[in-house]
Amino acid sequence: MSFTKKTIKDIDLQGKRVLVRVDYNVPMNDSGEITDDYRIKKSLPTIEYLLSQNCKIVLCSHLGRPEGKRDLRFSLKACAERLSTLLDRQVGFAEDCVGDETRAKVDSLQPGDILMLENIRFNPGEESNDEGFAKELASYADVFVQDAFGVVHHGAVSVSEIPKHIPGVAGLLVEAEVDTISSVMENPKRPLMAVIGGSKIADKIDILNRLVDVADFIAVGGAMANTFLLAEGISVGKSKADHDEVPLAKEILVKAKEKSQKEHFIFYLPQDGVVAKSVDSNTQTRIVDWDAHVIAAIEDYPKQPSAETGQVLEDEMILDVGPFSGAFIAGGIQLANTVIWNGALGVTEVAGVQGPTGPFAHGTETLVEAMLGQFGHKPFTVLGGGDTVGYVEERKLSEHFNHVSTGGGASMELMSGKKLPGVEALQDKE
Ligand code: 3PG
Repeated sequence: MSFTKKTIKDIDLQGKRVLVRVDYNVPMNDSGEITDDYRIKKSLPTIEYLLSQNCKIVLCSHLGRPEGKRDLRFSLKACAERLSTLLDRQVGFAEDCVGDETRAKVDSLQPGDILMLENIRFNPGEESNDEGFAKELASYADVFVQDAFGVVHHGAVSVSEIPKHIPGVAGLLVEAEVDTISSVMENPKRPLMAVIGGSKIADKIDILNRLVDVADFIAVGGAMANTFLLAEGISVGKSKADHDEVPLAKEILVKAKEKSQKEHFIFYLPQDGVVAKSVDSNTQTRIVDWDAHVIAAIEDYPKQPSAETGQVLEDEMILDVGPFSGAFIAGGIQLANTVIWNGALGVTEVAGVQGPTGPFAHGTETLVEAMLGQFGHKPFTVLGGGDTVGYVEERKLSEHFNHVSTGGGASMELMSGKKLPGVEALQDKE
């Protein structure tokens, strides 16, 4: 076990008042309806355990970024209602997280009662680490339970300050997240493969550096791969790429090459791509193989392909990995026992004209199929990063992966080897 902090199962909670920090920062549509309740569902094991201990439960969370102002577009009322439906039991709601009315509601809680407080970020004290606000919230309970993995990398009252006033322990979600992610980074069942997409290298530099240290195979996709291709001297046309980050890409490539000269290690950049002149469903696409030109040669047979066939032209963009690269990555997954995935391989948000797969989502779909064992072998799979998780949730596939992290930034910081303030603030196991 990599988790060294006390959890709700390590202390006596019988009949106690508990303040639980959950992360109900869930997506909502314009009518204020929850479009994805994955995070609420993931908080159920902790709440159900606390109910089994006859606790009086106060829940607090943020939703969105209301910047210290009461803005009802970010109200948690719909989340309290959804929780009530999921638990099939009444969940009370307090219109504010502090004040006389809220205190009266907290004071009247009976064992087994649940009260959800309004958005903690309506109060400016949450993000300014206001001590008075921390003390007031702490006074609601005997014990603080941290179960909001999505925020444990921040500094805020409900992350690091409340446990300075009452004992803080982890909820079951925080325990599972930290334990699983730390275990795959520190002691994975090898070979360990990491598939990293997304756009900016700078956002993922720490995680890339750590992965070069610990993984056996890294495959890079998404716009980030374009910056690496530039660093390798490959033309990427008008693809999204960050010219300022080319030196950073070169540094990682040097480190990766050094490692692969010493041991079995692959740092894989796409060798072909799906390119187009515009990012829309109806645009004409072609496959460019800048590595071997093989597809171009097959497509043009019996003619000889022109020099341009193997090059991304000035007015073209790489919008997905090509079929060879997708197959190579899927092949790597057949050999891996653990796969970490963060970031799509292409522009997955463009809808398909026919069928559910968009024109630039084929690489990502192949990756998903391989991770889910559709080519025969199913490795242990861990997903982190907000967009990646959103993608699989939208496709209702979350349950098929071994671990789908509820924390975007937090999972990346943990994978990078950083300490999480919200976890550090909790009591150590004896
Ligand atoms: C998230 O959605 O990643 C967490 O809820 C944290 O939200 P934040 O980035 O607004 O702090």
